Formats: sequence, C-alpha cells, structure tokens
Amino acid sequence: MSQRIAKDGKSIVMDELKWDADYLNSFNRIYIVACGTAYHAGLVGKFYIEKLARTVVEVDVASEFRYREPIVDENTLFIAVSQSGETSDTLAAMKESKRLGAKTLALTNVVGSSIAREADQVLYTWAGPEIAVASTKAYTTQIVLFFMLALYMAEIKGTQKPERVAELIGMLKEIPGGISNTLSDVEPIKTFAKQYGFNEDVFYIGRSLDYDVALEGSLKLKEISYIHAEAYAAGELKHGTLALIVEGVPVIALATQKSVYEKTLSNIKEVKARDAVVIGIAAEGDEELEKYVDHVIRIPETDELLIPILAVVPLQLLAYYAAITRGCDVDKPRNLAKSVTVE
Ligand code: M6R
Repeated sequence: MSQRIAKDGKSIVMDELKWDADYLNSFNRIYIVACGTAYHAGLVGKFYIEKLARTVVEVDVASEFRYREPIVDENTLFIAVSQSGETSDTLAAMKESKRLGAKTLALTNVVGSSIAREADQVLYTWAGPEIAVASTKAYTTQIVLFFMLALYMAEIKGTQKPERVAELIGMLKEIPGGISNTLSDVEPIKTFAKQYGFNEDVFYIGRSLDYDVALEGSLKLKEISYIHAEAYAAGELKHGTLALIVEGVPVIALATQKSVYEKTLSNIKEVKARDAVVIGIAAEGDEELEKYVDHVIRIPETDELLIPILAVVPLQLLAYYAAITRGCDVDKPRNLAKSVTVE
C-alpha cells in the first residue's frame, strides 16, 4: 500500500487509473463481481465505496451475474475481483459487461492474467504469490485496495474532507502493525480450535462489516477443516436460524462495529440464552462483551472501517488450527483448485 500513498501521507496516488472527476461522475452504477473469497472482499468494497465515495454499488457472484441479464450500459463501471485473474465465471461476466458497453476495472493479483488483459484498467493487489488454495493474504490485499480506491474516489468526487482522508490514511498505515500484534498471540485461538475442532456445525454472526467478515470466516473454516459453518447477519437469526442454536453449539460473534454494537450485543444475548458457546471478537478496550460471551479474542483498536482487515486474521487462524487438529491438508483441501478455470 505504501506505493499508493502520497509522500506527505495525505492522499492516495493511483497512477494506473486514468480517471478524472468527469469520468468518475459519469458512472451511475458500479457492479463488483467475483467468486468465493474475492466476492466477500467485494462486499467490503461496496461498503467502502458507498460510505466514502457516496456511489451506489451492487455486488454479485459472477456465476449468478452473468446469467441474470444485468442492467449494464456505458454508464456502468464493472469491477472484477480475482486473485488468480483466471476465474472463468468472473472473466465471462466481465466480457459480457464489456460487450454491453460498461467500463471495466480488474482488481487482481496476477500480472498479465486473463482478467487483467481483458479489463480496460487494472489495479494489482501486490500480495505476492499465494500458493495455498485458501485465499488469505489475497483477501486482505483486496480489502486494502478497495479501501484505497474508495478514498481515491472520495478525494476526486469531494465526498470526504481532506482531513478525514488524511486521518484514514494515517490509520491504514498502522494496520500492518495491528496484524503483527494479532499474530503474536495465537495460543488462545489454538485452544479454541482444539476445543471446538470436532464440532459438526459452527455459526458466525455479525452486523454491517462484521457480517461480511463472518461470511469469509465461515468459508475458510468449511474450506480447510470440512466443518459445516454458516454465517448470518446477526439480525436475521430470529427469522429462522435461531432454531438451530442449542446447548453447546459454537457461535463466533463479531462485535467490532461501534455503530451497531448494541444491536449485535442483543443478538449475542439471544444465542447465549440458548446456551450456545460464544466466542466474541472485540476491539481492545471493549469491556462490555466479555460479560456476555464465553471467550473473547481481541483485535487492536482502529477506525471501524478498517477493522475487517484485522478481524479476519483470528478467523483465518481458527480455521487453520481447526484443520490441523482434524488432520486436514491445509494447503490443498479436497475437491478444490487454486484457479477455477472451468464453469
Ligand atoms: O482467483 P479468484 O480470486 O478469482 O478465486 C475466486 C475463488 O475461487 C476463491 O476465492 C476461493 O473461494 C478460495 N479458495 C477461497 O479461499
């Protein structure tokens, strides 16, 4: 990210993009389209662009988007997200959008990949080679890139004050240190993984950006440990899923978003009342959550927009240690491939 921050640390530099204010303001619709983990990064990207650059964004999985006759024209910006740059459905969705007149932008990790070559413009995630099938650092860099893109758009469109942009850039620069902190104490996460590694079902809940991270945490657990996991928007629980919450069921509850904190807390109380075993993910300094959950994993404090970059780390580690506990091959999960080049 350092190459995309101006020397004075106050603005974002994206020399790769040839967008001026007129061009940016000409889009009346943005689609973010991707698969799997990249789709989950897209959900966070939508939040960032809408919140910071005040533009409406729709996110879709590529295999759905390409067959639903999406409304696309020359005022549409189509953003494809793909670590490999070779995912067949994402590539096909991009080609179709281009044919319908959209401008296309690729967020990818692999230089010269098919999606990078097909797109009008490319932003590379610069994650370095990612060998294991499970996407981890690719996800993190996709979110970082979305954050920077949203800030860049906000600067151009004038939707955020320069001081706010500078403040957020300052906090972004602290994030690598925050990740190191989270990685420095993995023992409690290992213990939870051992404790719950043989459960049949695990639930992840959260609201707002916490829900987006919950989706990614549950995918990671399924993918590498083969434990059935589901993520729910915490407010949706009582619309059906609460029926599955019984004594001893592990629930990972993310409560990092201050704007919806009280609401999340009341959902956590609902699952606790059914005797679920709740592991809370909270920011340092949160004194409240520990009163209502069985264990708390803490992540460093930062602006709530940036928390997904930190909050996903314990969830990735939980999946990793659960997989190890169960004797799974963490790098090469069964039935999966790193690049999905077939439909
Ligand atoms: O290479 P891509 O980012 O396009 O891949 C998309 C998905 O296949 C990928 O993220 C998949 O969900 C991962 N194995 C998840 O860890």
